[in-house]
Amino acid sequence: MSAFRVLVLGGSGVFGHRLSMGLAREPGFAVFLASRQMARAVRCCEAIRQRNPEARVEPVALTLPQGFPAAIEATRPDLVVDASGPFQGRSLAVLETCIDRGLHYLDLADARDFVQRVVALDVSAEAAGVIALTGASSIPALSSSVVAALAEGLAQVESIDIAILSAQRQERGVAMVAGVLEGVGKPLPVIAEGRPGVAYGWQSQRRLGPDDPLYGALGPRWIGACDAPDLDLLPARYPGLRALRFQAGLEATPAQLGLWALSWPVRLGLLPSLAPLAKGLTRLAEGLAPLGSARGGMQVVLRGRSAAGRVERRAWRLVADRGDGPWVPTLPALLVARQIASGALTRPGARACVEAFELPAFEALLGPLAIETEAIDDPEPEPERGGSHERAA
Ligand SMILES: NC(=O)c1ccc[n+]([C@@H]2O[C@H](COP(=O)([O-])OP(=O)(O)OC[C@H]3O[C@@H](n4cnc5c(N)ncnc54)[C@H](OP(=O)(O)O)[C@@H]3O)[C@@H](O)[C@H]2O)c1
Repeated sequence: MSAFRVLVLGGSGVFGHRLSMGLAREPGFAVFLASRQMARAVRCCEAIRQRNPEARVEPVALTLPQGFPAAIEATRPDLVVDASGPFQGRSLAVLETCIDRGLHYLDLADARDFVQRVVALDVSAEAAGVIALTGASSIPALSSSVVAALAEGLAQVESIDIAILSAQRQERGVAMVAGVLEGVGKPLPVIAEGRPGVAYGWQSQRRLGPDDPLYGALGPRWIGACDAPDLDLLPARYPGLRALRFQAGLEATPAQLGLWALSWPVRLGLLPSLAPLAKGLTRLAEGLAPLGSARGGMQVVLRGRSAAGRVERRAWRLVADRGDGPWVPTLPALLVARQIASGALTRPGARACVEAFELPAFEALLGPLAIETEAIDDPEPEPERGGSHERAA
């Protein structure tokens, strides 16, 4: 049987490299790892083969967008995974080419605008028989599967609170930093006290407290508002939501609060965006490594009502140690690539990658990593809280 061929754009990046490593370990997969520099792509492939001599991985030199058609000719992929980024404000050229050529497509997009624009190509993707899933990563793929698992059996979901906290001592890529910076100081949608509202990226800072599932593992770290596709997707999926927020945090307090300070010139219209500072701030964050640990995590807290009207609080947390956090965003794409390759996923169309897998399938991939997950249910029903859990920012 011929191998299932996957071209990974951004294969030399922090996430693309790990994803390529994961895919190249899959039986029946052949991976083409792309970088703008052939020498870098070769080094990444060698590193993968060193860890797994069986891995089927080849280097490709490719600069987007102009180099993409030639790379398709050279590699003849069944599936293209875009792990390059940043996705904020980016054109849909890669997906449009995939639709024209009849190639399945995944990306790791974390940008609300990009996800909305991908979904708008649903009809053309369907007509071309192409499966195109955007956000096959921590958000919205993993977050939506966690929310679905927590919501199981509830008649109504009333509030969802998601947070991702990175470790100071973990690898971070310029593309991801640029994506986060693009949202700093900019308005983003939230729901509070039953009403749609607006928060500003990296503002509404708060510290983790004893009610937060990650408090025990990470202590009282700061987190603040962050943009995410989930802020559009979850209200559509759970129309009765009375509270919704997505937050993120850097471990070192000077980094977290420094970024909060930098959010003000953007909010006040004095600066258009912090994204151009991505390279410098990535280096600065690396310099702050001694101020932190190799421990990060993700938490989801959901409140809802059973059919009998009982209020329930359910939570889930993931703690990543030894700098293993960057593996997490790659595992959803791996799971979905498996589904496409095996024929388990056949429905064509361009969609957000939501509820694409059951949570246990994701958790089963964590075995070799220093990553643990835990579901935390309140043993007793909570007293009524008027349907809101917002606290002062
Ligand atoms: N949705 C989620 O939950 C989630 C989670 C994590 C990450 N992400 C997203 O994943 C993306 C990648 O993040 P990262 O930290 O891995 O970034 P990174 O380390 O900076 O890697 C970026 C990659 O893109 C390649 N690249 C950049 N510009 C290119 C171009 N014009 N043509 C071809 N290749 C190009 C780079 O290749 P060379 O420099 O070698 O040429 C590199 O391999 C980001 O957008 C991030 O936001 C999403």
